[in-house]
Amino acid sequence: MKQHIQPAEGKLGILIPGLGAVATTFIAGVEAVKKGIAKPIGSLTQMGNIRIGKRTENRNPAINEFVPLAQLNDIVFGGWDLYEDNVYESALNAKVLELPLLHSVKEELESIKPMKAVFDQSYVANLDGVNIKKAATKYELAMELIADMEQFKLVNNCSRLVMVWCGSTEKYIEQTAVHNSVKSFEQGLKDNDDLIAPSMIYAYAALKIGVPFANGAPNLTCDIPALIELAKETHTPICGKDFKTGQTLMKTIVAPGLHARALGVSGWFSTNILGNRDGYVLDNPANFKTKEVSKLSVLDEIFKPELNPELYGDMYHKVRINYYPPRGDNKESWDNIDIFGWLGYPMQIKINFLCRDSILAAPIVLDLALFMDLAKRAEMSGIQEWLSFYLKSPQTLEGLPPEHDIFKQLIKLQNTLRHMMGEDLITHLGLDYYQELVDSM
Ligand SMILES: NC(=O)c1ccc[n+]([C@@H]2O[C@H](COP(=O)([O-])OP(=O)(O)OC[C@H]3O[C@@H](n4cnc5c(N)ncnc54)[C@H](O)[C@@H]3O)[C@@H](O)[C@H]2O)c1
Repeated sequence: MKQHIQPAEGKLGILIPGLGAVATTFIAGVEAVKKGIAKPIGSLTQMGNIRIGKRTENRNPAINEFVPLAQLNDIVFGGWDLYEDNVYESALNAKVLELPLLHSVKEELESIKPMKAVFDQSYVANLDGVNIKKAATKYELAMELIADMEQFKLVNNCSRLVMVWCGSTEKYIEQTAVHNSVKSFEQGLKDNDDLIAPSMIYAYAALKIGVPFANGAPNLTCDIPALIELAKETHTPICGKDFKTGQTLMKTIVAPGLHARALGVSGWFSTNILGNRDGYVLDNPANFKTKEVSKLSVLDEIFKPELNPELYGDMYHKVRINYYPPRGDNKESWDNIDIFGWLGYPMQIKINFLCRDSILAAPIVLDLALFMDLAKRAEMSGIQEWLSFYLKSPQTLEGLPPEHDIFKQLIKLQNTLRHMMGEDLITHLGLDYYQELVDSM
């Protein structure tokens, strides 16, 4: 049965904490696409198709014609940053996009000025800015964020908002008592509890007023019982963590293939160099730890060594990130994969990916924002596991192992869209109509 989905009427405000390389590449890209001077490559919502019905029916509509998504022309952007640069200046600084493209959308980008950030340097030691809110308690900071959102919505005449965290990776923290319920969390906000990170304050503010929240960094952020409870209470979708780009994207493409053919893996060494501000932040060990935990979780979940000890029980997995300024946003990664096959004979795979981090991340921001808005209009609240496709460290309900295999993630995403629209789910069995075809020959 088709779910009831509110139409995407009016303007959608995409609000972004952290107007750095990813966010500015995303915003400039959307503005350029709106003007018809570039294509939204890498975005499933803009360029992907979805099969409906049997293979014999040849029905493959574009995703954005199949589900009611917000149109790019109806999007407005806003955000917060601890630096005062407008989006044009920040994009110049990030050095991801070429000058001619940036010039063509200069006016639109210059008009987006960051609101004052909720920032705490103890969470991102390598940054130091001035565009920061001052208040006596974290609770007051959350209320100021709510006021920012309400003001933005009014001034820009938006009917809906979504928030996507594109801020820096915060230092590693673990879940503790203050994160356990809305009650303890709100008390913690009033008591200025050290273990409430700035990203959690943004997530709290968004969820409190029913604004969907997606987390593009590996921080804990909304992956805590208090904010899951709040999301349910206010009927708001959440998802996270950590945009799946670059090396991890490659891992979740290659590893399911090796696993599918029952090939063994004895070691997977991943190293990379990058020189953008993200790399500078991750140069701090406390911040790198957050990223490392996110990146390391992927292979175990795909190979499941406990089920296949002979193939994966001794696998050694190492991930390094090296800050190397000359490369800027153009990351280079190397993977050495030691595998073994028939009778245990060893082989090696080398992957050398010269990628562009923000170019891979920008379409993810767009898709997450549009799908989170769709989920809200379809009255889907809480953790949106079907968006794991976009994330390195997918948020799941407690006790549920995340799915990292990108192909299974895609099937789940597509089946969720089919389910929303009341179409048959596709199992790829095909036996029913295969027999029909044979009989008709
Ligand atoms: N680019 C990718 O491929 C990729 C992939 C996965 C995750 N990420 C994550 O996305 C995030 C953004 O990456 P980036 O390359 O744009 O980094 P960036 O350093 O260029 O931008 C981050 C911005 O966030 C701002 N910021 C930090 N704390 C803030 C706060 N509390 N409030 C408001 N602004 C804040 C910083 O000033 C900076 O401008 C990082 O956490 C990164 O780890 C990026």
